[in-house]
Amino acid sequence: MIPMKTLNDGPQLPALGFGTYKLTGEDGIRSIVSALESGYRLLDTALNYENEREVGEAIRRSGIPREEIFVTTKLPGRHHGFDEAMQSFEESRTNLGLDYVDLYLIHWPLPRIDKYVKTFEAMLKLREDGLVRSVGVSNFTEDYLKRVIAETGVTPAVNQIELHPRFPQGHLREFHARHDIVTESWSPLARGNDVREESVVQAIAEAHGVTPTQVVLRWHVQLGAVPIPKSSSPERQRENFDVFGFELSHAEIASISSLESGRLWDGDPETNEEF
Ligand SMILES: NC(=O)c1ccc[n+]([C@@H]2O[C@H](COP(=O)([O-])OP(=O)(O)OC[C@H]3O[C@@H](n4cnc5c(N)ncnc54)[C@H](OP(=O)(O)O)[C@@H]3O)[C@@H](O)[C@H]2O)c1
Repeated sequence: MIPMKTLNDGPQLPALGFGTYKLTGEDGIRSIVSALESGYRLLDTALNYENEREVGEAIRRSGIPREEIFVTTKLPGRHHGFDEAMQSFEESRTNLGLDYVDLYLIHWPLPRIDKYVKTFEAMLKLREDGLVRSVGVSNFTEDYLKRVIAETGVTPAVNQIELHPRFPQGHLREFHARHDIVTESWSPLARGNDVREESVVQAIAEAHGVTPTQVVLRWHVQLGAVPIPKSSSPERQRENFDVFGFELSHAEIASISSLESGRLWDGDPETNEEF
């Protein structure tokens, strides 16, 4: 059984999830069903991935009871604002074909638009109405988190951020830990770039009799972060899920973190705008 984390607003979040970006159409549905069959119970989507219908359909096809699956979706930049967020949620819920969403995130803060606090207030209303179980954010900096907490009195349950050995985000993870915010790691494998080919990762994999990708995902788990790797292949999905049977040493974790070189692309939350 996969370990669970208790969110600051109550629900239990699986310690590793499945990213669905780019999984669309019939092939996408099949990949998501296969992830569920491999044991994944946390699915990550977004209105902007244009695959919420596929996610909902995969859940129904899998035959797994709805309440055993933790569904996350995200609100896009074009829908910031209280009323807009309420409507956007309805659009996502209709796409998914679900009664409720487990975790609803603000996809990007868009500080220039300056509506993320109002947007978060709408999410709190959705939680109050029982349509959302947990409320969180994505790509928020420490300053944006502090402002949301100060102005609403509520600490987001999750901040989903870019996190991988090239960008370990030590300071922000410490802030999350102090405030009981769960860190979720997006692009946890650095989107398939060269991390798994690093000699340090390969040596650790050999020492533990696992694959380099499993070493990277285990590194996330031991940092206390929840990685959400995406894979279209059933074989790689199983490989990515099987990271709870070995333990990295502190020195191994530190050597993986020392691969830091920066963000994968220019996804700086202070300037990146996705609508
Ligand atoms: N909140 C945000 O702003 C944000 C931004 C980006 C992503 N996300 C979320 O994070 C999820 C994961 O990030 P991501 O999709 O960008 O990147 P990722 O999970 O780091 O990497 C995915 C890539 O790695 C390959 N891969 C997966 N497992 C592998 C394995 N065992 N061996 C070799 N290659 C493997 C995949 O190819 P195959 O499919 O061919 O296996 C795919 O090309 C997304 O799907 C999305 O849900 C959120």
